[in-house]
Amino acid sequence: MRADADPNLVVYFDGRYMPMRDAHVGILTHALHYGTGVFEGIRAHWDDVQKELFILRSNEHYERWKQNCGILRIDIPHTPEELTAITAELLRRNAFKTNVYIRPLAYKCAQRVGVATDDQDAFTIIALPFGEYLPADKGVHAGVSSWRRIQDNAIPPRAKICGAYVNSAMASADARLSGFDEAILLNENGHVAEGATCNIFMVRKGKLITPPVSENVLEGITRDCIMRLAAWELNLETLERPIDRSELYIADELFFTGTAVALTPIVRVDHRFVGKGVIGPITRRLQQLYSDATCGRVKVHHNWLTPVYQAQTAEDQDLALHHEAVLV
Ligand SMILES: Cc1ncc(COP(=O)(O)O)c(C=O)c1O
Repeated sequence: MRADADPNLVVYFDGRYMPMRDAHVGILTHALHYGTGVFEGIRAHWDDVQKELFILRSNEHYERWKQNCGILRIDIPHTPEELTAITAELLRRNAFKTNVYIRPLAYKCAQRVGVATDDQDAFTIIALPFGEYLPADKGVHAGVSSWRRIQDNAIPPRAKICGAYVNSAMASADARLSGFDEAILLNENGHVAEGATCNIFMVRKGKLITPPVSENVLEGITRDCIMRLAAWELNLETLERPIDRSELYIADELFFTGTAVALTPIVRVDHRFVGKGVIGPITRRLQQLYSDATCGRVKVHHNWLTPVYQAQTAEDQDLALHHEAVLV
């Protein structure tokens, strides 16, 4: 799915909340020409029974964002907790009562020509209603791309660096034009790396397997959620080891994980059925566990969630008020 934003959305830009139609960047912005930005993707899930919107693992996402910004030497002048408070306030100002995708973006903002970076940095946070990115209920047909995954010593794939997403965009677009729902990229060693915007897991002979983070993949937070849920709830440890392309063809089950795709089963790969060509039992169970955990339906995983409306802590309120006073 695509999410086209309503220009009346409230966004956080230039240190304050404003309508998106008033948030502009100049055409000489360094990041626009050279891809020198780092973004994040965070989900907030609406639970209609509890009438609450839960941001999923917000502090971890902001921690990762700040670390990855460090790779490009972009400074974010806030702690993850402050960024979570800014985000919760942004969601309240938009009065969202639906599933939401949150897109923080930090970038080199100098207005000039010349590729070397300097210390002029800016960031924005945009949040918009967002449904399913891929058809997770029926599963997808994935195709192995002829594009190889970028390598750590060229552009680190573990960071969500804007310029690096040319690799994902080309693989994803070609996969769709070839009739697939999504691309799977191999790395330069010929091993399975990940999907264009998601990590990949395989089930073989009862074992849950995913490529290690040293295989040129993004260190996915959903990947981590699934590994934890599998261990805690199914007593199933995940084996992190390289996966060959042909193993995809003999896997019992395959699935993608990511903030946008959640847990999306792969039922066909390169015109071959995965297992029996239907969603497998481990995939289905993990999909349900993930959905319950992210919507706040399982108490034990509540430490993953920041409630936006009801349970604002005094600390959140203080931080939000502080930002109103200082920044708006
Ligand atoms: C290339 C790539 N791999 C994996 C992921 C999954 O990461 P996460 O679960 O943190 O969203 C993403 C999504 O953002 C991605 O863009």
